[in-house]
Amino acid sequence: MAPILEARGVTKRFGSIEALRGVSFDLQPAEIRALCGENGAGKSTLVKIFTGMHEPDGGCVLVDGREHRIRNPQESQALGIAYVSQELSIAPYLSILDNVWLGHRAVPFLHRRRSLRRAAQDALDLVGLGYLSLDARAAALSLGERQLLEIARMLVRDARVFMLDEPTATLSDGEISRVFATLRRLRDNGRTVLFITHRLGEVFETCNSVTVLRNGADVGTHPVSSIGRDELIEQMLGRPLGEMYPAGHHGGGETVLSVRNLTVPGSVERLSFELPRGRIMCLAGQIGSGAAEAVRALAGLVYQARGRVTVNGKPMPLGSVPQALARNVRYVSDDRAVEGLFLDLPVDENLVATRLETLGPAGLLSRRRLRARARELAAGVGIDALRLASLARQLSGGNQQKIAIGRSLLTEREGVLLMIEPTRGVDVGARADIYALMRQCCDRGLAVLMSSSDIEEVVGMSDIVITLYRGLQIARYENADIARSKILSDILHQSKPGRQTA
Ligand SMILES: Nc1ncnc2c1ncn2[C@@H]1O[C@H](COP(=O)(O)OP(=O)(O)OP(=O)(O)O)[C@@H](O)[C@H]1O
Ligand SMILES: [Mg+2]
Repeated sequence: MAPILEARGVTKRFGSIEALRGVSFDLQPAEIRALCGENGAGKSTLVKIFTGMHEPDGGCVLVDGREHRIRNPQESQALGIAYVSQELSIAPYLSILDNVWLGHRAVPFLHRRRSLRRAAQDALDLVGLGYLSLDARAAALSLGERQLLEIARMLVRDARVFMLDEPTATLSDGEISRVFATLRRLRDNGRTVLFITHRLGEVFETCNSVTVLRNGADVGTHPVSSIGRDELIEQMLGRPLGEMYPAGHHGGGETVLSVRNLTVPGSVERLSFELPRGRIMCLAGQIGSGAAEAVRALAGLVYQARGRVTVNGKPMPLGSVPQALARNVRYVSDDRAVEGLFLDLPVDENLVATRLETLGPAGLLSRRRLRARARELAAGVGIDALRLASLARQLSGGNQQKIAIGRSLLTEREGVLLMIEPTRGVDVGARADIYALMRQCCDRGLAVLMSSSDIEEVVGMSDIVITLYRGLQIARYENADIARSKILSDILHQSKPGRQTA
C-alpha cells in the first residue's frame, strides 16, 4: 500500500543540537503506530514537523506520495493531519457542539444548523462520547473526555492522520482505556494514528507497529508481533537494560513518618499510616483519588490540610514548606513547569537552586563551586554534562524530571523524600536510573513516599502500598501481598469477591 504520510531524510537542528539526523519514516493507512525512544530522541520534533509547528532544515515530507511544504498548523490540517495536544484547547463555557466546530475553516456564516449537529453527533459517536448532549457546556467534562472531544473536533475537519504526544501521561486508567478504544475505532474506520509513549504496555496492547528513534536517527520500524519487549528497549537505549526495578526491602526499621487523620478538604479523608525508615511506600490511586493531594499536603503545600504528623518523633505542622524542610522532608513535584523548575535558567543553576547556602563562604556564590556541584548532581541522575549550560526549557521532558530529582536528592541520612508520579514522561532507561536513585536514598536511611497512577511502577517499586479511592483509604498491602489485580480493583473500585483487607 502507498504510504499516506512519509518523511525522507528529514533533518532538524536547534543551535548545536541535531534533533533529527536524516529521519526516513512512513505511515500506512489504517494503522496505529507507536513512536518510541529515549527522552530527547527527537519524537516530539518529528511530530511537530508533520504538524507544521517546525519546518525541517533538510529532507522532505510527502502526503499521499506528493511532496508538500508544511509551513504552519493550518497547512498541516488542510492535508488531513491532526495534532491532538496535551495542553487541551477545549473552551469550557462553550457548548459541546460549538467546541466540535470551533476553529473550523469551513463553517459558513449562515451555516445549516441541522447538518452541523448531525456531523457533530457522528463524530461524538465515533469517539465514544455519543451520550453527551450537544447543547451542554464542556466545563463538566473530565480530562479524558476533553481529549476525546478534541479528537471529535479533528474528525469533522476530515483528519485522516491523528498524532498524539504522550496522550496518556495525565489520564487515569479508566480514561486511558477509553482513549485507546477510540484510537482502535479510528483505525477500523481507515484512519491512521501516530502516538508517542514511554509506556511499553501501551505499545504492545494497542499498536500495530512501532518506530524507534535514537539520538535523532530512525533505528527501525517493526510490527509489534515481531519484536519483544527487551529487544524494543535495547533498540531505544542502544544497550540492554538489565533489571528495571531494584530489589525491595523487607525488614522494618523504626518509624520515620507517622501520619494520623490527614484530611485535605475535598480530596483526602482521615488518612493514617506509618512509614518506616529505608522503605518505599506508594499511595496508589487514579487522578482525583487524593493520593497526590496527600503527598502535597505532607510537603507543606496545602494550607487547609489538617492532621497529626511526626517525623522521627518530632511534630511537623502542616501547611508550611519551611516546617517540612526543617524536618528534612523534601519534595519532587510532578508539575515541572509550575512547581519544579526555573525553565529560563540553565540546568546547572536549577540543580543547585535549593542548596545555595552550601556554595560559598559568607553568602558569596562561587561559580566554580556551583559548576562542580552541578556536575556531581548531574552525574548522579544521568544528565549529560554537556547540557549543563542549556536552559531547562530546552531539555526534553524526561531530562527536566531528572533535574527536579537531582535537585532534591538528599545528602542527609534521615528524613523523607516525597514524590508525585516520579517517572511521568520519563523514558525506560532514565526510569531505571530514577528507581535506582530512590533505592539508594532508602539505603542511606531515608524513607520514600510517592503517589503514582502507573500500576507497573506501583507494583515494581513499592514495599508498602496504600490504595485510595475518592479520598478514602481502601487497603494496605506489604511486600508479597502487593499484586496488580488487587490494586487495580481497589483503585477502580470494582467489586472484589474474597478480597482480604490488611
Ligand atoms: N525549541 C527547542 N530549542 C532547543 N532545543 C530543542 C527544542 N526542541 C527540542 N530541542 C532539543 O531537541 C532534542 C529532541 O527533543 P524532542 O523534544 O523531540 O525529544 P523527545 O523525543 O520528544 O523527548 P521526550 O521523551 O523527553 O519528550 C532534545 O535534545 C531537545 O533538548
Ligand atoms: Mg517529547
